[in-house]
Amino acid sequence: MNSFAAQAVIRRMSAADVEDAVALAASLKDAPHWPRTVYLGALNPASVPRRIALVAVSAASGSVAGFAVACLLLPQAELETIAVARERQRQGVGRRLWGAMARELERAGVRQARLEVRSSNLAALGLYQTLGFRETGRRPRYYTDPVEDAVLMDLRLG
Ligand SMILES: CC(C)(COP(=O)(O)OP(=O)(O)OC[C@H]1O[C@@H](n2cnc3c(N)ncnc32)[C@H](O)[C@@H]1OP(=O)(O)O)[C@@H](O)C(=O)NCCC(=O)NCCS
Repeated sequence: MNSFAAQAVIRRMSAADVEDAVALAASLKDAPHWPRTVYLGALNPASVPRRIALVAVSAASGSVAGFAVACLLLPQAELETIAVARERQRQGVGRRLWGAMARELERAGVRQARLEVRSSNLAALGLYQTLGFRETGRRPRYYTDPVEDAVLMDLRLG
C-alpha cells in the first residue's frame, strides 16, 4: 500500500459525494455508468434491498478517489461495483475499500459475498483473486456491448 492509500479516509458515501462518484465512474470504461438516482437510492437506509456505499477520500484534498457499493441479500451480499480513479489505481485503494466493506458486511450479518465481472476485466479479476474471491462459474455471453462472459465469484465472510 503506498502513502496515498494509507492516508485515504474510507467512510460512508453521502449525497454530497454522488456527483464525484458519477464522474469517476464515467471516466472508467469498466465501471457501471449508473445515474445519480441509483447512488441516491443506495444511500437510503430504508431502501429494499439495503445497500452499503463507501467512498475513499483523499485526506489532503477531500476528493473522492474511489468507491464501492454492495447490496445486502442476507446472508449473502453482492459487490455491485468497486471503482478507483485512474490516477489512483494500483496504490492499494481498492484493497482498502474492500477491507472496509467486508467489515461492514460482516457487521450486517453477511456470511458470503458474491460478484460477477466481465471476463476481459483483468484488473478487477486480479483484485478479486488477491482478496480471496474464487471463481464459481460463468454465464456465457452475459454482457453486451461487447458480448462477453460473466465470471461469477464468491468469498466466505465472518
Ligand atoms: C479494479 C480496480 C477497482 C482495482 O483498484 P485498485 O485500487 O487499482 O487496486 P489495488 O491497488 O488495491 O490492488 C490490489 C491488488 O489487486 C490486484 N490488481 C489490481 N489492479 C490490477 C491490474 N490492473 N492487473 C492485475 N492485478 C491487479 C493486484 O494483486 C493488486 O496488488 P499489487 O498492486 O500489490 O500487485 C480498478 O482497477 C478500477 O477501478 N477499475 C475500473 C473499474 C472496474 O473495472 N471495477 C470493477 C467492476 S465494477
